[in-house]
Amino acid sequence: MAKFKRNLLISIFNSYASQSGHKLTFSDTLSGVGATGIRLANESNYVQKIYFNDANVNASELLQESINYNCLDSSTEVSINEANKFLSNFTNRDTRFDFIDLDPFGSPIQYIDSAVRALKINGVISLTATDGAVLCGVYPKVCLRKYGSISLNTEYFNETALRILLFSLASISSHYELGIKPLFCHTDKHYIQAYVQITDSISDTEGKIGFLGHCFTCQNRVVSELPVLSCNLCSSDNKIAGPIWTGNIFDKSFLNIAINNTDDSNLLKLYENALLESSLPPLYYVTDNISQNLKISSFPVETILSRLKENNFLSSKTVLHSTGFRTDANIEEINSLLSKTSTSNI
Ligand SMILES: C[S@@+](CC[C@H](N)C(=O)[O-])C[C@H]1O[C@@H](n2cnc3c(N)ncnc32)[C@H](O)[C@@H]1O
Repeated sequence: MAKFKRNLLISIFNSYASQSGHKLTFSDTLSGVGATGIRLANESNYVQKIYFNDANVNASELLQESINYNCLDSSTEVSINEANKFLSNFTNRDTRFDFIDLDPFGSPIQYIDSAVRALKINGVISLTATDGAVLCGVYPKVCLRKYGSISLNTEYFNETALRILLFSLASISSHYELGIKPLFCHTDKHYIQAYVQITDSISDTEGKIGFLGHCFTCQNRVVSELPVLSCNLCSSDNKIAGPIWTGNIFDKSFLNIAINNTDDSNLLKLYENALLESSLPPLYYVTDNISQNLKISSFPVETILSRLKENNFLSSKTVLHSTGFRTDANIEEINSLLSKTSTSNI
């Protein structure tokens, strides 16, 4: 898991750097023993300098040993500091970072403001959150307190979590009239992760903050600028979550660059699948839940994708769930397509 996460970070860093055409500075802000930064220094041709930081003295001692062992002294700098204090030392225009990694235990929220101020315009922040229960809707009140947004436990829980994290980043960035552009997002059983460019254009964020309404009676879902309180299909009360980021969570042109820049087959597959879903609506569906609700046998995701395409709906798998899919059809239309097909045909 950690290995894949680091492979992904290195790939995203290289793709972003290849676009900018020069070597970049990287802040390994909560570096631990430096496994991510050391790998990046060894494996990327685009590193100008890596700045390691951790509050833990013991971790920093082990990190220094790794730096010596790998002969990376000239391209690295190590500090032992509280992360916000560390980042605050880099807020001058000429010292800001190109790429900042925030990889804490739990929530990254308390470091975001400092990171935004220590990042160059159009630089990238990599955000990891491991407080999944908060963001995914188990503790909505804690989520409201920490992230300023109410979470909701639905079948697309990890997408809501990502969109809440992105909302918080967009909200903090907008204090400085900065916009956000998510490049790539990824989740795992243990973490939620977003790679986001911070732009000098607040219009990148405008119109992309809203709410989601979920109907637990018919499983209809809606994303809107203001909360929609009742289901437009069955008139039951919607449960509301948000504010959330309602814009794209994958950037098409960045994905094309990432695809051209990787020879790792797992990453290639991930990027190619993300590209397919990048312009489809938010909030994916899960086939297993649909078959359960309709009391039909479970069916492969390809079955519903082809039914949807035959009926002129947009559709794609999602990288956020192994049996999930996105479509512009609503739940009534999806159910109707599946009900028309006898269970044996599925
Ligand atoms: C999840 S680990 C980092 C893992 C590392 N990025 C890697 O790839 O292996 C989180 C680290 O944050 C450090 N930490 C926690 N709170 C901190 C703070 N306020 N300032 C600086 N470091 C902190 C911990 O000592 C720990 O090493």
